[in-house]
Amino acid sequence: MNQSTNQNQKPQFQTKRPLSDFESLNPTREDDDSIMDGFHYKSGRRYHFLEGVKYPLPCDTDETYRLKINYSISRYCWKGNIFYSPLENELAKGGIRVLDVGCGPGGWLLDMATQYPNSTFVGVDISSMIPKDQQPSNMGFLQCNIHNGLPFPDDTFDFIFMSHMFTSITENQWQDVVDDLVRVTKPGGWIELMEGEYINSTSGPVTREIQTQLTILMRSRGINMNIGPSVYKYFENIEDLEDEIFTSQTVTPLGNGTVGELAFKNFKASHFGVRLHEYMGISKQELEDMFKISQKEMDDYETSLNIHRFYVQKKIYSAKSEDSW
Ligand SMILES: C[S@@+](CC[C@H](N)C(=O)[O-])C[C@H]1O[C@@H](n2cnc3c(N)ncnc32)[C@H](O)[C@@H]1O
Repeated sequence: MNQSTNQNQKPQFQTKRPLSDFESLNPTREDDDSIMDGFHYKSGRRYHFLEGVKYPLPCDTDETYRLKINYSISRYCWKGNIFYSPLENELAKGGIRVLDVGCGPGGWLLDMATQYPNSTFVGVDISSMIPKDQQPSNMGFLQCNIHNGLPFPDDTFDFIFMSHMFTSITENQWQDVVDDLVRVTKPGGWIELMEGEYINSTSGPVTREIQTQLTILMRSRGINMNIGPSVYKYFENIEDLEDEIFTSQTVTPLGNGTVGELAFKNFKASHFGVRLHEYMGISKQELEDMFKISQKEMDDYETSLNIHRFYVQKKIYSAKSEDSW
């Protein structure tokens, strides 16, 4: 990974608190200024346009709103259990450092920072979507491109969380990203991933056609839409991690019921966000019509999306530290 280690630059954390708490994290880079120039606009939406960044969704106000709703749906589907790693006591006691990678509008971070006021929470994302005045004082944000490496020294965080990043990471990038998560996790710390499963057997024919088209479009960008259930494989065979990978699963209903309708709206908006109709060579209205049939189908097929969690602990004593004896 191409990681800059210029320690002389001042960190540019967005935080209400005096920077001292966050400076102790020793960020190795300041905000990635180049990110600010790397946009292009298509059909009235704003997108990232940076080398190595294949993220297909827009970065604008509508998308920020969609991600906020998505987080609320996810929290509901997990019955309010927003993390599974066994850190409840430590978080409550305080002094724990937590990183949310690709934090988006920061729903998870805001919940966590409010619930555990004595621990420190940091979000990184290529887009800055969290209004500073909404940040509790134990929370900071740093804008960066994770594909340039996380801008923190080794062994910095007690808990690393990363959710719904499968459209941000190509199959070729996954192992590097996971290796970097492990690098910045303290020995004994935990890493938790949460990823959706885009297609399963509950889709009707029109829904499946839409899902197939998006899967092909994403594949052309190197993104595997169906990687969610198997991202745990990137944890396997990492010397510094314990062997046991814990898992959990829930479902999001699509199309039916109050939550299902909201989830469907969000699901549909993400397809328009990547301009699937342009790729399919059809009009916006034609894709809209397909979604109308898709929503009707969802009732009959009881369509749902699975969401998976994987969490694993970094060894307290790694082979590296034993070697250095
Ligand atoms: C689908 S959203 C998930 C947001 C949040 N984790 C959640 O679960 O609600 C993906 C996020 O990844 C961010 N992202 C995409 N590519 C990135 C990159 N190269 N570096 C950092 N963040 C990136 C996007 O800006 C977006 O906020």
